[in-house]
Amino acid sequence: MKNINRSPLFYVGDKYKLIEEIKQYFPKKIRHFVEPFVGGGSVYLNVDAEDFWLNDLSYYVVSLHKLLCSFVGRKEEFFSKVFEIIDRYGLSCSARGDSAFECLKIQYPKTYFAQFNKQAFLKLREDYNSSSEKDCLMLYVLLIYGFNRMIRFNQKGAYNLPVGNVDFNQNTVEALNSYFRLNATKKTHWHNEDFEIFINRLNLSEQDLVYLDPPYLITFSEYNKFWTYREEQRLIDILDSLDRKHIKFAVSNVLHYKTKTNEIFLNWSAKYNVHSIKSNYISYHDNTIKKFNEVLVTNF
Ligand SMILES: C[S@@+](CC[C@H](N)C(=O)[O-])C[C@H]1O[C@@H](n2cnc3c(N)ncnc32)[C@H](O)[C@@H]1O
Repeated sequence: MKNINRSPLFYVGDKYKLIEEIKQYFPKKIRHFVEPFVGGGSVYLNVDAEDFWLNDLSYYVVSLHKLLCSFVGRKEEFFSKVFEIIDRYGLSCSARGDSAFECLKIQYPKTYFAQFNKQAFLKLREDYNSSSEKDCLMLYVLLIYGFNRMIRFNQKGAYNLPVGNVDFNQNTVEALNSYFRLNATKKTHWHNEDFEIFINRLNLSEQDLVYLDPPYLITFSEYNKFWTYREEQRLIDILDSLDRKHIKFAVSNVLHYKTKTNEIFLNWSAKYNVHSIKSNYISYHDNTIKKFNEVLVTNF
């Protein structure tokens, strides 16, 4: 994974481990690279194009990207602001050689970070949720210390994950450094709307590529919750309309998962090129998830 850049959002279900395999099917030269479901950004970060049109329905995801992009060329300032929050709340920080949590390693061999950071994290979460002007930098710190580094809000708009078992470490620093370095040369345009509205407003041509990594109909994750047959139908309709206009697309999806099959996508994909992707989710020791079958469908 040496030449692959990981997103500092550490997004659940990101394409970090599959990007090399997926990218081999992309055209060599891309003018506009369009990602309607950008998530953590692991794909666009590892692709070259003249410019990047990036979108996600999640307001928080797009806000975090915009926040990070606003610090391109000023990364020292970003790190010092993050460390200021870490110190204000008394969170551990292994990236700076902090070993305050070491004393908990014997008592809590698997959860010492969570044990150490729990109270500080809850205070940070409470302050973030109760502030009228939401500080996106605080949200980034919550994400780094939060459970599975996920982003989850309840219906009242409060961030509601518990503390995770990891802190601001060297991997976080490296992912942030790569993000700042890569975005210094990438021309990005950020959007926060539904994929269909987003795609329809773009003026695309044959030299562009639309890469789509939508929520998967038959697997579970936080962002799949609102993805229904209706959304899947809208997705394949817009892909057909791109094809009619000779605009290249590449779409990731899962055809089989445990006992489920995504019939609608499977039937639709037959008219295009279907490339099997060796998914990182396959465990050859676990029969139950053996049938996980990820594909990349292209129209070129
Ligand atoms: C599988 S994830 C993308 C992961 C991304 N490829 C990565 O590497 O991080 C799917 C994304 O679609 C977004 N999403 C869900 N419904 C959407 C919609 N109707 N329009 C646009 N984005 C949507 C979710 O917020 C989520 O970030």
